[in-house]
Amino acid sequence: MTERTILIVKPDGVRRGLVGEIIRRVERKGLKITRLRMVYPTEKCIESLYDVHKGKPFYEDLVRFMSSGPIVAMIVEGDEAVNVVRGLVGPTDGRKAPPGTIRGDYALSMRENVTHAADSTERAEYEIELVFSDSCGFS
Ligand code: CMP
Repeated sequence: MTERTILIVKPDGVRRGLVGEIIRRVERKGLKITRLRMVYPTEKCIESLYDVHKGKPFYEDLVRFMSSGPIVAMIVEGDEAVNVVRGLVGPTDGRKAPPGTIRGDYALSMRENVTHAADSTERAEYEIELVFSDSCGFS
């Protein structure tokens, strides 16, 4: 079934010049990018993005890292887009992510893992609303 999801290139991915590479992988797979935004997010926006992780030991460092520079968010559409994009991204820990995935090829860290992708269609809608709103930060 056709779905839409959100894929975010994190500050480490933007700093390392990986935006084009990530877009290339999404397009090569046959998915469609229907919206794209570079934004320098406020801590408040990131806190809402990661509300489910509030209270976990890594939460504060995660918020600091994610608001340390611009991110690039994209809406991605296609058949089973939520799971297909998560497959392209790979497991959270870059050291364990298999080669061929974005994290497997470009990350060596649990936190600085280049990309974020929504884990359900409901979550995708919540995150799209949040990150594409003017209040998330400067574009
Ligand atoms: P992401 O897929 O964006 O979802 C939550 C993020 O929290 C995750 O990628 C990592 O960037 C970060 N994260 C998750 N678990 C840990 C951890 N144990 N230590 C540090 N960062 C983590």
